[in-house]
Amino acid sequence: MEKTSTVQDSLTRQTRMLMYQDLNTRGKLYGGRLLEWIDMVAGITGRRYCGTEVTTAAIDKLDFLTAAKLGDILEIIGKVTYVGNTSFEVKVETYVDRQNGERERINRAYLVMVALDEEERSIRPPRLVLQNDEERLEYEAAEQRYLARKKARAAAK
Ligand SMILES: CC(C)(COP(=O)(O)OP(=O)(O)OC[C@H]1O[C@@H](n2cnc3c(N)ncnc32)[C@H](O)[C@@H]1OP(=O)(O)O)[C@@H](O)C(=O)NCCC(=O)NCCS
Repeated sequence: MEKTSTVQDSLTRQTRMLMYQDLNTRGKLYGGRLLEWIDMVAGITGRRYCGTEVTTAAIDKLDFLTAAKLGDILEIIGKVTYVGNTSFEVKVETYVDRQNGERERINRAYLVMVALDEEERSIRPPRLVLQNDEERLEYEAAEQRYLARKKARAAAK
């Protein structure tokens, strides 16, 4: 019997306040800093889900939707959306709580992660147990991305 895990098992939230060292030359959140935080959240999400080491194989899509600035509070939320053979997808969404109390999504990213054993060989992650319609819809969309990635990688060889 294969091990199973749920989206809830993987759910990871990180909260931070934007400081001077997080800004670019225009005084807005530096994209490279956010990318680092997203990759970290995806790694923690993956480890919680798999219970093993994981690595980032690809950042499939990353959209900067709007900017954030000094003093804004960011919440970065990661969850597993799809499990393939040895890879799985983590969706990471970043929200900003503005100083005027408004909340807005500023980034959405999909990362392809791979579970690793002690010798750093790729292994099968737990099978994903879907618990509601939202997770099932998310899974179906993620499966299309997984198949599209497979096709693109095969074509690039
Ligand atoms: C990720 C890694 C372990 C995969 O090695 P591998 O298992 O021998 O490679 P495979 O080609 O068999 O791929 C394993 C799975 O990952 C997927 N995958 C690997 N690279 C991918 C990419 N660039 N894009 C999309 N999917 C990818 C494959 O489709 C496969 O999925 P599946 O088993 O669910 O069908 C290896 O490429 C590696 O170590 N890369 C460096 C990772 C790293 O250093 N990350 C940190 C960067 S900051």
